[in-house]
Amino acid sequence: MRPILVTSALPYANGSIHLGHLVEYIQTDIWVRFHKVRGRQCLYFCADDTHGTPIMIRARNEGISPEELVARMHVEHKTDFHDFQIGFDHYHSTNSEENRLLSEQVYLANRQAGHIFTESVMQAYCPNDGMFLPDRFIRGQCPSCGTPDQYGDACESCSATYSPLDLKHPRCALCGTAPEQRESEHYFFNLGNFEAFLKEWTRSGALQVSMANKLAEWFEAGLKAWDISRDGPYFGFEIPDAPGKFFYVWLDAPIGYMAASLSYFNLRGIDFDRYWRQPDQAEIYHFIGKDILYFHTLFWPAMLKGAGFRTPTGVFAHGFLTVNGQKMSKSRGTFITARSYLKHLDCEYLRYYYAAKLTKGVDDIDLNLDDFIQRVNSDLVGKCVNLASRTAGFIHKQFNGTLSNRYPDDQGLFQLFLTEARTIALHYQDREYAKAMRAIMALADKANRFVEERAPWILAKEKRLEELQDTCTVALNLFWLLMIQLNPVLPVMAEKTRVFLNLNDMNWPEVLEPLVGITIQPFSALMQRVDPKKVDAMLEDSRETIPSPPPPPVALGSPDGKTSPREITLDTLMTVDLRVAKVTHAETVEGADKLLRLILDVGALGKRTVLAGIRAAYTPESLPGRLVVLVANLQPRKMKFGVSEGMILAASDGSGAPALLSPDPGAQPGMRIQ
Ligand code: MSP
Ligand code: ZN
Repeated sequence: MRPILVTSALPYANGSIHLGHLVEYIQTDIWVRFHKVRGRQCLYFCADDTHGTPIMIRARNEGISPEELVARMHVEHKTDFHDFQIGFDHYHSTNSEENRLLSEQVYLANRQAGHIFTESVMQAYCPNDGMFLPDRFIRGQCPSCGTPDQYGDACESCSATYSPLDLKHPRCALCGTAPEQRESEHYFFNLGNFEAFLKEWTRSGALQVSMANKLAEWFEAGLKAWDISRDGPYFGFEIPDAPGKFFYVWLDAPIGYMAASLSYFNLRGIDFDRYWRQPDQAEIYHFIGKDILYFHTLFWPAMLKGAGFRTPTGVFAHGFLTVNGQKMSKSRGTFITARSYLKHLDCEYLRYYYAAKLTKGVDDIDLNLDDFIQRVNSDLVGKCVNLASRTAGFIHKQFNGTLSNRYPDDQGLFQLFLTEARTIALHYQDREYAKAMRAIMALADKANRFVEERAPWILAKEKRLEELQDTCTVALNLFWLLMIQLNPVLPVMAEKTRVFLNLNDMNWPEVLEPLVGITIQPFSALMQRVDPKKVDAMLEDSRETIPSPPPPPVALGSPDGKTSPREITLDTLMTVDLRVAKVTHAETVEGADKLLRLILDVGALGKRTVLAGIRAAYTPESLPGRLVVLVANLQPRKMKFGVSEGMILAASDGSGAPALLSPDPGAQPGMRIQ
């Protein structure tokens, strides 16, 4: 059989991995592990998606280089994935030499083949920041409903979509300056050249039916050429023969799939072309979220085709995660990062829960936390772990840890498990994990019924030792088969089972012989029940974590506070992100006579809640509408009265009432103070 190469979409390097992302990485990882335990050659690649304006800006706000930001996030992402048992064969970065090389190669081959052209484009330009502004970096009044402070591409109030040129009173989201319209030459990929090819590829079985239908709509609407260049300053790869022009991040991102594999292949002397040029030699599958379908089913296959590479065997899209039936939300505490989850809960709970919900379709999947607790406890602990925990003890106490020498009569259960295993394998293969989990749990029910009928605890009391050993031997054999079938979902528990049963592996071949006469290890708990208190603690924790860049250490005063403040460099000063903010709401804080709770509008940075010690000098009514200066990158602090997301500047000699600092008129919320 041909080896398979599998990828998950590359997470952006400017954010932490959260439970939404994990739907995809867990879905893919289960598929890969399934193929591996079945003995199929299968490689799993991914990487950080590192380029583009948001990453450049975030690095600038943190006072570090994009490379430093990307390096830090790489470590964070890799650790999170590792701790969720996502078993990449290699995790790379799009900001790598392999990717530069391949991006140039794909581009030049397409240019050579006549698929690239240039055209002049009018675009918003911020003279103050010296850069062209992506749609998301322009804010203004919605041309359709008039709501102020909307993004350049869509209105959050009335959902209208438009061009940033139509926005009323547009402003640069970074500095508040009114942008100019400037002309610049852009490079385009002529997608229209690939219409016939794409239509055929769509029908080749590479796509889910609903996705193929979506594509039919896009064909209907006509395939527009794709703008693949951005003007500097831009964090990305410079386009060959086009100084100052860079590949748009979405050009080099999917090429990152190839780059990750190239880096892996280079180290091991594996032939790259075998995977990427010879469809008869290997299969390639991409797992993605439904939001990035256009890139993966139109641009990506067309670019590959245009450059003479093979196209993917399959692109599998999944739906989005909701938590308790709603979009993940920071205020509800349901915007849960991988790390906050891991602080409280076992990664295999989530792996199992997602598996129990996932189908091959694109419906959204809901993480209902009550259902999560109930499901994991009843299925994994109640049905699976229990099977072993109720029987292993007898084997140790009465039989020196040894199973029966012959496999006893089990009413045909072992055989039934093997027959069912074939159907279950097909469900895994089809990404119908929910069906697979249901079928496995139905088998677990049968095994438990067997144990209950034989009642080993009674056999022990009545000293019917042969029957006792036989019953436990059957139970442990069935437990073993269940854990083999669950291995793709629960690799840690499967590994513990392997050690417990003294086996060499937990692979899943077509034929398996019962375990007899072997000595097993003493049983130790394979998994704890989900503790509802820990779920609550996780939500509470997530409510507090407001993602905000941690400030680098700034030594503004001497360590002992007695001698005069130490000098700092300009670079250090630049790490403090001072912003203009507008007070939109102010209120007293019960129990705190010095504090006011302020809600601030910080333009593109959104809204912030700040607890400020200014009550002695200001009434809540006097503040709304007033402009203040905010330290915007101060780590959020949890205080007795809530979380404060920053600090506003006020002058004080420490004795009298503080005096707020305000910018002169003309300053806009979100403007940087520099
Ligand atoms: N960087 C691009 C992908 C480039 S692939 C060449 C990107 N990154 S992302 O970090 O926003 O998302 C990574 C993957 O996670 C995407 O497939 C996306 O659909 C998926 N998900 C992100 N949030 C999700 C949910 N809330 N729910 C389910 N999947 C989600 O897109
Ligand atoms: Zn600007």
